[in-house]
Amino acid sequence: MTVQDSTQRFSSRVDNYLRYRPGYPAEVVDLLKKECGLTQDSIIADIAFGTGIFTRLLLENGNRTIGVEPNAEMRRAGEEFLAQYPRFSSVAGTAEATTLPSASVDIVTAAQAAHWFDAKGAKTEFARILKPAGWVVLLWNDRRNSTEFQRQYEQLILTYGTDYKEVRQQGMTLAIEHFFGHSAFRSREFKHEQIFDCADLEGRLLSSSYAPQAGEANYEAMIEELRRLFDKYQINGSVSFDHDTRVYYGQVRITSISTMAPEEEFVPDEKNFHMSPGDFRRNGHAVVDWIADYYSRIESYPVLSRVKPGAIRDSLPASPPASGEPFKAILGDVEKLIIPGITHWQSPNFFAFFPSNTSGASILGDLLSSGLGVQGMLWATSPACTELESHVLDWLVAMLDLPNKFLSTSSGGGVIQDTASSSTLCALLAARERATNSASNRRGCDAKLVAYTSTQAHSSIEKNIQIAGIGRDNLRLIEVDANFAMNPDALSAQVQRDRAARLIPFFVCATVGTTSSNAIDPLAEIGPICREQNLWLHVDAAMSGTAALCPEFRHIHNGIEFADSYCFNPHKWMFTNFDCDCFYVADRKSLIQTLSVLPEYLRNQASESGAIFDYRDWQIPLGRRFRSLKLWFVIRHYGVEGLQYHIRQHVELAQQFAQWVREDERFELAAPVPLNLICFRRKAGDDVNQQLMDRLNRSGDLYITHTRLNDQMTLRLCVAQTNTQQRHVKRAWKRIQEEASLIHSQRE
Ligand SMILES: Cc1ncc(COP(=O)(O)O)c(C=O)c1O
Repeated sequence: MTVQDSTQRFSSRVDNYLRYRPGYPAEVVDLLKKECGLTQDSIIADIAFGTGIFTRLLLENGNRTIGVEPNAEMRRAGEEFLAQYPRFSSVAGTAEATTLPSASVDIVTAAQAAHWFDAKGAKTEFARILKPAGWVVLLWNDRRNSTEFQRQYEQLILTYGTDYKEVRQQGMTLAIEHFFGHSAFRSREFKHEQIFDCADLEGRLLSSSYAPQAGEANYEAMIEELRRLFDKYQINGSVSFDHDTRVYYGQVRITSISTMAPEEEFVPDEKNFHMSPGDFRRNGHAVVDWIADYYSRIESYPVLSRVKPGAIRDSLPASPPASGEPFKAILGDVEKLIIPGITHWQSPNFFAFFPSNTSGASILGDLLSSGLGVQGMLWATSPACTELESHVLDWLVAMLDLPNKFLSTSSGGGVIQDTASSSTLCALLAARERATNSASNRRGCDAKLVAYTSTQAHSSIEKNIQIAGIGRDNLRLIEVDANFAMNPDALSAQVQRDRAARLIPFFVCATVGTTSSNAIDPLAEIGPICREQNLWLHVDAAMSGTAALCPEFRHIHNGIEFADSYCFNPHKWMFTNFDCDCFYVADRKSLIQTLSVLPEYLRNQASESGAIFDYRDWQIPLGRRFRSLKLWFVIRHYGVEGLQYHIRQHVELAQQFAQWVREDERFELAAPVPLNLICFRRKAGDDVNQQLMDRLNRSGDLYITHTRLNDQMTLRLCVAQTNTQQRHVKRAWKRIQEEASLIHSQRE
């Protein structure tokens, strides 16, 4: 039997289905009342109602329910099962052609069935039969595989099931993606348990469409293996199956792109090809709708893009269009051609690298920045662009409890850079000029300057050393302690050695939250060494600096008062979309002197008055976007309280995850977990860990990345995505455990 034979797959299994499939918890009905406006008057179409297990719950609530079922035997069994409910009726129909009148039902439900539907056809049909503002509710029971018995059972059906792998792959996640498409949906999970004796367990297995039946190949072997499992794991004659009931619910619309009205006739005064203000408004609404819908359905995508190299280019026309195209077609191609090649950084199941999270407030702030189209190289080219930036960066000094010397009202100040890499480069250049009395800018470097960072520092430090003309041979990678933090004694000793060799130590980059393992370099010990040796101390707190929003995590900055410069990235963990790095210096003059070159055409009165900042002198490029708008929006939208709440939640979830790792003897933590990054590994060698990561990432359910610590492959899971909640982290751990078990059983 093929997977496609969906309407016939269960004919011979009706009895077992009815008796042994898990029911659904009453909380589902409560949820529909609370979220989908279910009342006793609501009319429900329960699609592919099968034997009526879920339908009964709706009927018990008193709802008029129409069961739609294509399979005649199933339908008869369901009709019998539900005969006592006068408000029940049934029709022979499919999800794609229910036979029900248009706009006739308030809610469409489908329990344990959506993966069999033709998503597009079913969605169109649901939109047709639903009254305006009606809801679609898709739900199913998932075995949790939380016990060894359940994991072995999974293995059994993988081994003996005729097409279990395909059915599993075709799973519900994909169904959700196809169904809700552009429409908003939400989800909830409920837990429940089934207890089986040996005969029940056989019935449960045989109710599955992929289990061979008596007389078919493998049947005997499968039953024998099932009984062996039962004997091994039964306690007092029974075994238990844990389930999660997952409910996804939303209001389907047929996509915003296809419902866009045709483009208006625009008659310009003179010939031009621009988008008219009216079209801009309409297209803009469609784009905002599209983004909102994208966030609603984001969990339905495989997190890591699955396209092969070159596939996206192959799908694009070889030449550009000679004539302009309708906006609808362009946006449609985003959906069709671009989305497959997107790795979903904003998915709550994205746990890879360090995050690059964003938020509604930030996206809208950025949109406004695009709308204003300001180029803020000088104060005079848009005073608000400069002044808002100085102001918001001063706010952040207070919010993170940074030293006052970083305030724009003192000797220093803050500026927004594109990335931490650029901040470090600016710091390095300013340090170079300080160390050489500005000679390097004039004459170039003479290969005597020496810089220091730890072996765990980000690769951008080395890159910047190359760019700044210091030379890679003059970067010392200082050894780290058992926690992967810089060893201050080793730093001190190396500086002494370099001085003895008549070199000029000038710059240290310490890291607060290293990329590999989130190690925190001890600033309070490194700082005095830098002071004493007159070394510029730059602190790179790219992701982890955000944690200092919460007083309880501010210890990560102990010793920050020694820093000459500091940077952190709101574009990593502070809900502000890329790019946005906040860079602070204690002495702005040294930075400005380093980077300022004044051609005649940029001279202006305001700059010459000295009363303002021209941020072009605080960065590498001349031009600059109005980035502070998005940061301002974020801080105002969340308030300090909101930002602290979400940062605390991420740290708490990461700590929970770390605890689960500690409790599972198959795994180990590979480094301390000071904040929101967990480095862990399966205690089984590099190849097993590699396999585990590859399988997880291939599954599309989540995305994690790796590093090497103590020369061992180490998995990294970073909890920092804007919408990551406990259920996502729990599921990530469950998936990691499942795949680890599968790898283990396949190797045996
Ligand atoms: C500690 C650290 N520094 C610098 C960077 C580079 O960040 P950016 O892309 O902002 O240059 C990263 C990126 O992950 C990082 O973890």
